[in-house]
Amino acid sequence: MLRNINLIIEADYAAMSKKAADIFAREVAGAPAGVFGFATGSTPEGMYAELAKQRADGADFSGITTFNLDEYHPIQPDDAQSYAYYMKQRVFDPLGIVRTNLPNGTAPDPVRECVDYENKLAIAGDMMMQILGIGNNGHIGFNEPGEVFAAQAAYVPLAQATIDANARLFDDASQVPRHALTMGIHAIMMAKKILLLVSGQGKAAILAAALTGPITPQVPASILQLHPHVTVVADTAAASAL
Ligand code: GLP
Repeated sequence: MLRNINLIIEADYAAMSKKAADIFAREVAGAPAGVFGFATGSTPEGMYAELAKQRADGADFSGITTFNLDEYHPIQPDDAQSYAYYMKQRVFDPLGIVRTNLPNGTAPDPVRECVDYENKLAIAGDMMMQILGIGNNGHIGFNEPGEVFAAQAAYVPLAQATIDANARLFDDASQVPRHALTMGIHAIMMAKKILLLVSGQGKAAILAAALTGPITPQVPASILQLHPHVTVVADTAAASAL
């Protein structure tokens, strides 16, 4: 059973990206100086490209403040694998966004960096919409499966499944950082709205587990069943086990 979740199924990746971009752009139009949460990963790339097209057609994203979910640690912001680099190239520059926040992948004290990041988030005000992807193991941000839901932002070891999944973006698995900084479950759940993008057959089983299975920290995305306003935009392949 789908609880409070608005499930939108689109034919393919392109249609999913377009639909998600339309939903996100409408939210920004309603709160042009609002706070918005961004995600990285392969899944939202098409949505970001769509938003860049919309900007070329006159949409204005320049007034928003953004917070990203996560970043590897340690990693330099000009490293092509860093989320800071991804965001600059694919989102911030193309969309003309200047008030941006990411966890600092070079922070000398990563635990302290998590506290500081959480404080910045709290001071920034209500997050209007948080964009999310889902990891193959059900993670959101870098909140990996575990014994408990990690409420606060955290400096976390990456699950082997995540290192393996993300190795495709590096020269080889040994290059993937072993740790990351991630926004916690509480901050994600505090967003007024959540927009979860899911694409491909490979995500079908975990999406079904997250949306219709037990709410368990073994599948971190399952907590979204308790959020009052979640929109899932999936392509038919990703939705095939629902
Ligand atoms: C990554 C990120 C997540 C992302 C997820 C899925 O490791 N930490 O924020 O949503 O895994 O990534 P992809 O969209 O590439 O499958």
